[in-house]
Amino acid sequence: MGGVVLISTLPDQSEAPVSWSLKFTLPDWESRASVRSSTHDYRLPSDVEKQLQTRYWFPPAFLPYLAHPAIQAKGSETLHRLTANHLVYFLDYTTLLEHRIVNRAVEVIVHRELPIYIPLPMKHAALQLYTDEGYHALFSNQIAEQIAAHYCITRRPVIPKRITRMNALIARAPEKNRALAWFLLGFVSETIIARELLDVCRNTLVSSVNDMLRDHLADEARHSHYFAEAFHYFWIAMNSRQRLFAARILVEIIPIFFEVDESWLQQSLRSAGIAETDMKEIVGAMATVQASRERARAGSKSTLEALHKAGFFALPHNLTLFAKAGLLDE
Ligand SMILES: [Fe+2]
Ligand SMILES: [Fe+2]
Repeated sequence: MGGVVLISTLPDQSEAPVSWSLKFTLPDWESRASVRSSTHDYRLPSDVEKQLQTRYWFPPAFLPYLAHPAIQAKGSETLHRLTANHLVYFLDYTTLLEHRIVNRAVEVIVHRELPIYIPLPMKHAALQLYTDEGYHALFSNQIAEQIAAHYCITRRPVIPKRITRMNALIARAPEKNRALAWFLLGFVSETIIARELLDVCRNTLVSSVNDMLRDHLADEARHSHYFAEAFHYFWIAMNSRQRLFAARILVEIIPIFFEVDESWLQQSLRSAGIAETDMKEIVGAMATVQASRERARAGSKSTLEALHKAGFFALPHNLTLFAKAGLLDE
């Protein structure tokens, strides 16, 4: 921990310990990044209807509401339509998340917007990561457009609820902490998405959807590691006021990633012909505080692990804060 004092008293671009610099790389990016190495064309397969006899657009186990009797009674066509709706929504959200949220957080690192020394390898890897996210947005959008055309899905929210919530959070952050808020939003997003994609990819999906998600996952496993290390480095460099701000905003950021977009879900269920009373019951069960907390606790394990590794929970106040928010046990 000898570096703590050194770094936190160096708001300029002075030298940082070499051992730190080596952690901030995306290993073998030139040969392993999807944008450099993937040969997939992200086109829907010509035998998509045949594939749907045994495969899915999105794993039904991830959408527990599909088990509702009103949906089960409708059969496989409705199931496919609802999972297609979900996938298009997820990919539209991903496209915005990559460009407008994660890459904005990456800009904070690349352009040294925080008064913390950024080693050159960290900046270089951030520029590679920025390129990766641009490619993820491209292939997410390519697949989303094809599925939307396949099912004539026209009502796609311009800004999904979570993105609106993230923008509002940033707008509320005091000017002096805004760059830090962006970085933390990126850190949470990047440590959550790798686990999310890993779980989704364990299932049997339509081939090109699977290829696309696996290409994304391969990159995100490296991004998650990078952002966890970057958080550790920044946490050590933060002063106590920045740490207090970081802790408070982190408990606000994490639950956003597990919120349900009720109005979108209502509209998705309506488009599949689900009756109003069933629709209200389904959406109501998804949006309870308890259900949201359970999703957040299960889905933020990698984020909490990274916080723990960085020494974030060595401050008892942070443990209490996270326990009160339902993200940890009391
Ligand atoms: Fe990504
Ligand atoms: Fe990423």
